[in-house]
Parts: sequence; C-alpha cells; structure tokens
Amino acid sequence: MKTSYLADVRGLQDGSRFKAVGWVMRRRSHGRLVFLDLRDSTGLLQVAVKAGVADEASLKAASMVGRESLVEVDGLVRTEARAPGGKELTALQVRVLSGVAQDFPLRKGVGAKVLWDNRHLALRSLRVSALMKIRARLLSALRRWFEENGFTEINCPSFITAAVEGGATLFKVDYFGKTAYLTQSVQFYQEAAIFGLEKVYSVQPSFRAEKSKTKRHLTEFWHVEAEIAHAGLSDMMGVVERLVGESSIQALQQSGEELRILGRKPRLDVLEPPYERIKYSEALEILESKGVDVPWGTDLGADEERVLTEGFEKPFFLTHFPREAKAFYHRIDPSDGRVTLSADLLAPRGYGEVVGGGERIFSLEELVARIEAEGLDPKDYEWYLDLRRYGSVQHAGFGLGLERLIQWLLELKSIKTATLFPRTRARIYP
Ligand code: 4AD
Ligand code: MG
Repeated sequence: MKTSYLADVRGLQDGSRFKAVGWVMRRRSHGRLVFLDLRDSTGLLQVAVKAGVADEASLKAASMVGRESLVEVDGLVRTEARAPGGKELTALQVRVLSGVAQDFPLRKGVGAKVLWDNRHLALRSLRVSALMKIRARLLSALRRWFEENGFTEINCPSFITAAVEGGATLFKVDYFGKTAYLTQSVQFYQEAAIFGLEKVYSVQPSFRAEKSKTKRHLTEFWHVEAEIAHAGLSDMMGVVERLVGESSIQALQQSGEELRILGRKPRLDVLEPPYERIKYSEALEILESKGVDVPWGTDLGADEERVLTEGFEKPFFLTHFPREAKAFYHRIDPSDGRVTLSADLLAPRGYGEVVGGGERIFSLEELVARIEAEGLDPKDYEWYLDLRRYGSVQHAGFGLGLERLIQWLLELKSIKTATLFPRTRARIYP
C-alpha cells in the first residue's frame, strides 16, 4: 500500500528525500530537461528530470512516458514558487510502474460528449476529484447533523409495488413474473418506521423515469429523506433550514482547496437560517408581476422556479401548494381546504427546488378519500393505511435531492456534474 502522498512534500524541508508515486498528467520536454506533472488523490506535484542529476535511463523513461502512465520518482524536495503547491521534486530516479496501451483519449479541447462517453477516464481530473470530495463532506455533514439531532438512520427497499410520487415517473421491473417498480422515495417506509423510532432519516438512491431533458433531472439520484413524528409543517421547515444551512456551511468551510480548484467562492452568509416562507398564492403574484402567468392549481416547473428565484440571494420556502399540484398523501390545510400543508425549499438565483416535503394526512378517512379522489386503488396502499389504524400520529417529512443541493452550492450548469456516473434518459453508459 502507498504510504506517502504527493501533498506530503509540502511539509518537507528542501533537500529531503521523497518517493512520489502518481499518474502523469502532463509532460514538457526541454531537450535534456523534462518536467512531469504527477497527480494523485491529494493533488499535483511537479517533477524535474535533469540530465546529470537523474541517471540516463530515468531521463529516457521520462522523455517518452505517455500521459496517464503510473510512475515512481525518487528525488529531492526543492522550493519552487512557480510549481503547484510551491515545491518541486528533483528526480534522481524515474521508474514507469505501468505504461499506457495507447494515447489517452481525453485531450484538451475535446467536447462534452466525448467527456461523458469517457466519464470512467474523465473522473481522474482534479476538478472531478474536488467535486467528489465536497460531495462526500456534504453527505457526512448531513449525516452528522441528523445524528446530533436524535434521528436514526434506516435503510429501505428499492423494489416497491405502488407509486409514492405518481405513476408517470415509475420504472417498471419484472419481479419474478410480477410487476414491481423502482422506488421514487422511501417516504412510506419511513412513515411506518416513526412508530418505533419517531425521528428517522435515509440516504439512498431514488429512481424517476423523467422523460424531459433538463439540466436538473436525473433518472437515478441520491435522496436524503427524513420523517418526524409529532411534527407539523412549521417544525419540518425548521429542521430543513437548519439541516441544509448548517451542513452546507460546514462542508464548504472544510473545502477551501477544492473550491479553489473549481474556481468557486460560495457565499456562506446566505446559507444561515432562518429562511423566508412564501405562500404559493403569493408566488403566483410575484410571477405575474414578472410577466409569467401561472393558472392557480398548477405546479411550478423548472422555468417558473427560475424566474421566481432569480431575484433572491437566500433560499426560501414555498408553502401551501394547491392539492391538485401535490401527491395524495399531503395533509389538507384545515383552515383552507384548497391547499396542502406542504413546502418546497427553493434555491436562489434560478436554481429552484432542492427539497420537497410537508405534513402527511394522518386520519384514515381523509387518506382513503384522497386516494380515491386521485383515481388510485386503496387496496394498493393497504399497509400504508394500516399506519392510520393503530395509534396514528401527526407527522411530517421531506426529501432532499443531494445532487440538486450540490448543483446549487457549486453553481453547476448541469446536475450531471454533481455525480460520478450520471443516469439520465439519454445516458446509462458508462
Ligand atoms: O419533491 P419530491 O418528488 O418529493 C418526494 O419524493 C417526497 N416523497 C419526499 C419526502 O417527503 N420524503 O422529491 C424530493 C426532492 C426534490 O426536491 C429534488 O431535490 C429531488 O428530490 N429530486 C430529484 N433530483 C434529481 N433528479 C430528479 N429527477 C429528481 N426528482 C426529485
Ligand atoms: Mg417536488
């Protein structure tokens, strides 16, 4: 196993002996002086291979080595202001551990399609690594937040038998001759689990057969969901704003180097909770004032959300969606039968929905009536109805799209960039 990493040279005195193992990102030859930029998980190291210092075999190896070859360099550390990280390794010996079978296909200037078709190779770049490190920190900050606030992590199945978020985006699976689906959300299982655990969360993939091509839809995304017993809409928003705000700030604060690589400087002050709450009906007025007419009752799509959020610097909650715009399980507002006790968290500056959630119907009669009104069969939801038969409890929850959050925090044009191997309607390879 490798015991030292390229970034370790930064802590070493000039003249120290160091053995570097990394992949060749760039080679520049100036006759009998060759520079190699090596890459590993910790960053870049510039290696200078000079005639007279390195032996002849090493000089020859260095001047012929192909990009993405794996090499080992034994050398001496030297301060060099122009080198990345401020240190250079003067090679005494260069050994190619593993060469390349042919030229690396990803040259500077190749188009987006080539990069996505070769994602298994493109992910070696410093930018992709920086993104994935931030993603990992964000995920661990989210988990930490839940753990510190008394939530228990549960793991739920991905094969299911009935829709949570409507039939239009269900992926069908042949399950030993029976029809099953891939889960869109683990919400219903979480609703069952709160009777034993009261506050639960899950982190797992959700699947949506999204037919439209957009910059913010994946067919498989990582869903961070939570469900809370004895909670209403406002409790849920309180949890979401603290979870999103505190976890994001923490992850970004730990990622100075990665943000520099990505050329991003996200504002942390706008992430501080609390976030404003705006009703759906007020949002329609804002949209109207901007020349966008949305008939009452329709859900806001990506375009409307973009216009609505453009003028905002902070995220905000959009609340009280009409019942027609939301799935059947949303609790109707007892003080206004036209709307539900629901809320989406919208990211500012055009990014739009990052979290969706709200209070659930907890009365058996009301739930059956809503299922029937939606043209669904209560028999498909038998176990879900059971939860309202035995000690039903007021409860609320939400789902956060991890890639959506990353897309907004890091200002990514496409959601695909937020994930290692994106799945979209047009892409299931590599
Ligand atoms: O708003 P959605 O559909 O809500 C639910 O699934 C609820 N059952 C969650 C719950 O209450 N437990 O999805 C929740 C979030 C969205 O706000 C969005 O961030 C993300 O999941 N999301 C997607 N992300 C990427 N690609 C897609 N196709 C997505 N669909 C939803
Ligand atoms: Mg939604």
